[in-house]
Amino acid sequence: MEDKYQFAQKIVLEAGEFLRQHLHDDLEIEEKGHFTDLVTQLDKTVQECLTKSILERYPKDRILGEESPEHLPLGQGNVWVIDPIDGTTNFIVQKADFAVLLAYFENGVGKFGLIYDVIADKLYHGGGDFPVYENEQLLPPVEPKSLKESLIGLNAGLYAQNYDGLADFADQTLGTRSIGSAGISFAHVLTGRLLAQASYVYPWDYAAASILGEKLGYTLVTTKGEQPAFYGRECVMLAPTEKIREIKGYLQ
Ligand code: IPD
Ligand code: CA
Ligand code: CA
Repeated sequence: MEDKYQFAQKIVLEAGEFLRQHLHDDLEIEEKGHFTDLVTQLDKTVQECLTKSILERYPKDRILGEESPEHLPLGQGNVWVIDPIDGTTNFIVQKADFAVLLAYFENGVGKFGLIYDVIADKLYHGGGDFPVYENEQLLPPVEPKSLKESLIGLNAGLYAQNYDGLADFADQTLGTRSIGSAGISFAHVLTGRLLAQASYVYPWDYAAASILGEKLGYTLVTTKGEQPAFYGRECVMLAPTEKIREIKGYLQ
């Protein structure tokens, strides 16, 4: 597993370097069903490069990627979950706050996860049998503060709808923050900047965070309080395991 983990770090860092080099390229932007759901040629190129590197080295493994032609369930075999650019809108508009996300599962069990904040050059990595690091700095297990001393990650849309009671929960805290990259937002939970992060997302958005979080004492649950399906889109929340019960008390 050590080999695979080292390899994963290498290809994610290379993907980030590629994106930094192409940050100011002319972009071919396409809409995926809605004008706010965008994809560029660089999302596709990074997806293809990561897929090719993984399958050349591990031909029996399988890929679940946001920009892959089909979206497989990840319960069986060796599956790599890829989000080539998490925060594509930020990538297009802001040229910052986007990430490369990679997670590796064997028969549905998370073995390691990586969240690479490309412009900040911060790689969050580990999980499974590996300690969790931000670059070379070991991250300590969670030490949650009270809701009244904490910020949570939540976007304006979910707050405005009070989706599953998330606004009621947010109103118990110091307030909300919204970055536009689920991966980076989940990483801010791992470092304690946010107490929790809730997002309406797909498995490639939360797979790495769930593996990293579990190692540090966090749990990823749906806002209905269930285990995420790791298939299709769901509203999920990463929060300290010992706080989940209290938070559920505010959710509907
Ligand atoms: C999106 C971002 C965003 C979240 C969306 C995701 P993408 O990922 O993570 O923060 O709110 O739901 O789809 O499409 O840029 O990879
Ligand atoms: Ca994403
Ligand atoms: Ca993406």
